[in-house]
Amino acid sequence: MILPEKENTFLLRKRDGSVEENPHIEGLKVVFKNKTGNQVILYEGAKFENTKIIIGDNSKLEIKATTTTGIRNSQFVLEGGGGHHVFIDNGVSIQGAIFLCKSGENLGINIGKDVMISDGVLFQASDIHVIFDIYTGEIINRYPDEIVIEDHVWIGRNVTINKGVSISKNSIIGIGSVVTKKFEEENVAIAGNPARIVKNGINWKRDYLGSLVGK
Ligand SMILES: CC(C)(COP(=O)(O)OP(=O)(O)OC[C@H]1O[C@@H](n2cnc3c(N)ncnc32)[C@H](O)[C@@H]1OP(=O)(O)O)[C@@H](O)C(=O)NCCC(=O)NCCS
Repeated sequence: MILPEKENTFLLRKRDGSVEENPHIEGLKVVFKNKTGNQVILYEGAKFENTKIIIGDNSKLEIKATTTTGIRNSQFVLEGGGGHHVFIDNGVSIQGAIFLCKSGENLGINIGKDVMISDGVLFQASDIHVIFDIYTGEIINRYPDEIVIEDHVWIGRNVTINKGVSISKNSIIGIGSVVTKKFEEENVAIAGNPARIVKNGINWKRDYLGSLVGK
């Protein structure tokens, strides 16, 4: 698809309602791959360390205020095809993640409020390459829904979230899991490859465990 040339936008929206264009944000590098009306919109209070945004093909990335630790060691890649969107709501923390919206149309990743993401986490919004039926030649990759992580979900270390996944609020994704489908139930621990519910009726908080064990 050839997209018409259009100016890109990089904005910082401040709490007082003012807007800064092309801001310098500590710890963040933004690379516009082409001039096709891409939008990067950050909100005051969004903090970054060693993080890169690569965006092209009329895509949009919006990041609200993070926790004080912010978004570290991460990459947002939105390119190939077109019209991709990633939204990170208020109060999210990320130790190290790759958000991959690449090849396909209108791919999306939506992260809710107060989500806690560990390191080595991958959000894979599309298969990227074609799978076809050997008899008919028909492309059989299903068109993915956007990835949705609802409010207050904890995503453990080295988790892969595949295309079309959704996770309901107050849930935990166990270390090393590969999540491949939608989970409608709230307050669950999901783990394994492919990930399944391993516990119901749970919730979590950011407090460090040490002093709390056994209490
Ligand atoms: C998923 C998790 C929260 C469950 O912890 P828990 O409530 O103490 O549960 P248990 O250890 O009793 O495990 C319950 C069951 O799930 C299984 N399980 C737990 N974690 C699993 C994982 N990551 N992958 C596969 N299975 C897992 C256990 O083997 C057990 O199975 P069983 O009932 O057949 O014996 C925890 O194992 C985990 O992965 N925490 C994330 C840690 C992390 O990434 N920290 C990074 C810091 S941000």
